[in-house]
Amino acid sequence: MIRTQRKRGHPPHHRAVVTGASSGIGAAFARHLARSGDVLLVARSRDRLTGLAEELGAGSDRAVPICVADLTTETGTEDAIRAARDFGADLLVNNAGMGSLAPVLDTDPETLVATTRLNVEAPMVLSRALVPDLVARARATGGRAGLINVASSAAFAPVPGMATYAATKAFLLSFTEALAVELRREPIDVMALCPGATRSEFGARAGFAGGQLPGATDPETVVDEALSALGRRTTLLTGPERIALDPVALGRSGVGGAIGIVSRLLSRR
Ligand SMILES: NC(=O)c1ccc[n+]([C@@H]2O[C@H](COP(=O)([O-])OP(=O)(O)OC[C@H]3O[C@@H](n4cnc5c(N)ncnc54)[C@H](OP(=O)(O)O)[C@@H]3O)[C@@H](O)[C@H]2O)c1
Repeated sequence: MIRTQRKRGHPPHHRAVVTGASSGIGAAFARHLARSGDVLLVARSRDRLTGLAEELGAGSDRAVPICVADLTTETGTEDAIRAARDFGADLLVNNAGMGSLAPVLDTDPETLVATTRLNVEAPMVLSRALVPDLVARARATGGRAGLINVASSAAFAPVPGMATYAATKAFLLSFTEALAVELRREPIDVMALCPGATRSEFGARAGFAGGQLPGATDPETVVDEALSALGRRTTLLTGPERIALDPVALGRSGVGGAIGIVSRLLSRR
């Protein structure tokens, strides 16, 4: 179901994997989660990951592991899965993502394909590969695992000028909400995090004038809200967009839950 999974917030995680940890929302997840456990940092920029790992490990004798991987490639995705398995995660945050602000016909095809690989294929493949391990670890420890897939408020409607980006986030939202219903009896809390405009490098990379989206929220606020709501909300909107889109998310909840029941009945025949 989209809204309620458990009555209280999720207990702290001990071992989290964060993709796209080198900046923005991913770095904020890494900093927050490192306060209560160990974190494996995944992204392409070795220097930035090394710098963050040193920051997070400072003052303690623990080494913060990094995995340098381009998640638009099969090799990079396989490397990340292998590193996550060796690490033994109980929380996976599929956060790495990209977008570009331009009409489809003004965007080179390679960028459109890379956007789809990073925003759709990588989180889907990582979820499929790692959720069984997360659930097994939660069962073994008697705790709960977590999966956070970072979609976007852009997932709720077509966005001319960012058509491929919005479509990839619509996929990730739908995939994650359905997965949450499928896993409802397992010791894992699943969330589709849908941030509104957030201060990060996203705007500059996507080609927004001035680099930042107007009215953007701090990434730390987005992460605080997400981790507090994990286990209570499946679809979480953050930022001012929440006021307009929350009713839409609730509507999806009813429809998704009902379709889940029909699917279960059909699969028993
Ligand atoms: N900022 C917003 O307003 C906003 C709103 C809604 C949703 N989101 C979503 O939030 C997520 C985080 O974005 P952000 O705002 O924090 O942007 P960001 O600062 O640009 O961070 C993107 C992260 O993804 C990593 N990344 C990019 N391409 C990659 C690749 N090919 N392989 C592996 N990692 C890659 C980047 O690291 P490297 O360059 O080192 O690889 C970086 O760590 C994204 O999924 C984005 O769609 C953002």
